[in-house]
Amino acid sequence: MLSIVILGTGNLAKHLFDAFLKAEDVHVAQVVGRNKEALSQFSEQCSVSNDFGTIADADVYLIAVKDDAIAEVASHLLTKKGVVAHTSGAIGLEVIQTDNKGVFYPLQTFTKGKPVSFQSIPICVEAESKQSLELLRTLARSISENVHHIDSEQRKKLHLAAVFVNNFTNYLYGIGESICLDEGLTFDLLKPLILETAEKVQHLTPKEAQTGPARRNDSESMEAHLELLNDEQHITLYKLLSQAIKKRHEEEL
Ligand SMILES: NC(=O)c1ccc[n+]([C@@H]2O[C@H](COP(=O)([O-])OP(=O)(O)OC[C@H]3O[C@@H](n4cnc5c(N)ncnc54)[C@H](OP(=O)(O)O)[C@@H]3O)[C@@H](O)[C@H]2O)c1
Repeated sequence: MLSIVILGTGNLAKHLFDAFLKAEDVHVAQVVGRNKEALSQFSEQCSVSNDFGTIADADVYLIAVKDDAIAEVASHLLTKKGVVAHTSGAIGLEVIQTDNKGVFYPLQTFTKGKPVSFQSIPICVEAESKQSLELLRTLARSISENVHHIDSEQRKKLHLAAVFVNNFTNYLYGIGESICLDEGLTFDLLKPLILETAEKVQHLTPKEAQTGPARRNDSESMEAHLELLNDEQHITLYKLLSQAIKKRHEEEL
């Protein structure tokens, strides 16, 4: 049985907690966070503390706090024997100042209240020692069948790629939503298109899957779209993305 302590009470902490509660051979010994109210969502099923000076002993400490606070939270674990791992895609291993350091990065978007199934989520593990790596691998396999050893440099690039395919895309969904709402149309009308766009790249490359006025270089349609936009930022984004798409497909036009 592996014992773990989760540090942090936000989106990822809650999802990890729910997943590990269901995992065989893993015991969530404690959740530690500075926010008493947020801790209450864990307190029925597990011991909790808002004092970083009273962290329980465990085999693995998973730090799921905002990236800028990882070093500070890790500094409370200097004397612990277990593996101390952060969960960020963007931060290197070296931010943790102990020999038994590691990374446990689940490559997915997590928001409280939106359940996800961990089984297929890639979990990227890294550690300084072989022993710590094996421990993190075992822990990751208890909730996912998609576990990878990925070093800090690769992980930072992977996170960058994830920002493009998820964070930026989601922001663009928001622009689509506001255009619909301004016209009294429901965003629901766009949802089958959003699903098909994501489904299509499971079978085709993004380049093969690209459609739209910029891909075809339909200049009149693009001019008409620009006429309909009022927001300067949306106009800039439309032009920038259309130029990038045109450049990528210019040899086919
Ligand atoms: N959400 C995702 O999709 C996702 C995916 C993969 C990896 N991650 C990684 O998971 C980590 C947490 O992200 P999240 O999305 O769960 O963030 P979040 O929901 O914003 O939660 C952040 C947590 O950090 C705590 N915190 C902030 N500053 C702190 C400090 N100085 N000392 C102690 N605790 C502090 C917050 O406590 P308060 O409530 O008191 O502010 C909160 O519990 C990050 O490293 C992120 O890169 C997130």
